[in-house]
Amino acid sequence: MSTTATDLVPIRSGDDVVRVRQEVRAIAARAGLSLVDQTKIVTAASELARNTLDYGGGGTARIEVVMEGARRGVRLTFEDQGPGIPDIERALSDGFTSGGGLGLGLGGARRLSNEFHIHSVVGSGTRVVIARWR
Ligand SMILES: Nc1ncnc2c1ncn2[C@@H]1O[C@H](COP(=O)(O)OP(=O)(O)OP(=O)(O)O)[C@@H](O)[C@H]1O
Ligand SMILES: [Mg+2]
Repeated sequence: MSTTATDLVPIRSGDDVVRVRQEVRAIAARAGLSLVDQTKIVTAASELARNTLDYGGGGTARIEVVMEGARRGVRLTFEDQGPGIPDIERALSDGFTSGGGLGLGLGGARRLSNEFHIHSVVGSGTRVVIARWR
């Protein structure tokens, strides 16, 4: 697998969440994703960037175009050094929130993606990697 067009966006404010959305849209379009798939990955990115900000205390979003043979896609990595998630299954279940949200963001992001990986260590931080293929 090879990677091109890497972009690293810091997430420290609501404006940065908007910027993540814009950059993901532009790179997904460049990767040749359909409009529907662009919207899916932008929506997932928005939820994950928001979580990075609200629960992770800020962090980064890495945006990459990935190629595997003729297959092309977009891979996003959200990282923070926040408190971590004690129970990932519970965090993924619809309706669970620790912060007064709707509790739909993580599960929604998983459903909107072709690949979804989450790694979190309590006291150390959280990394979520998603991909959407053309
Ligand atoms: N990066 C993170 N660091 C620590 N905890 C997190 C992180 N992301 C998610 N969580 C935990 O997982 C829970 C579920 O996240 P999810 O995005 O599904 O819902 P929400 O953010 O609470 O509400 P919504 O996204 O619907 O507005 C959060 O309430 C929080 O407890
Ligand atoms: Mg959320």
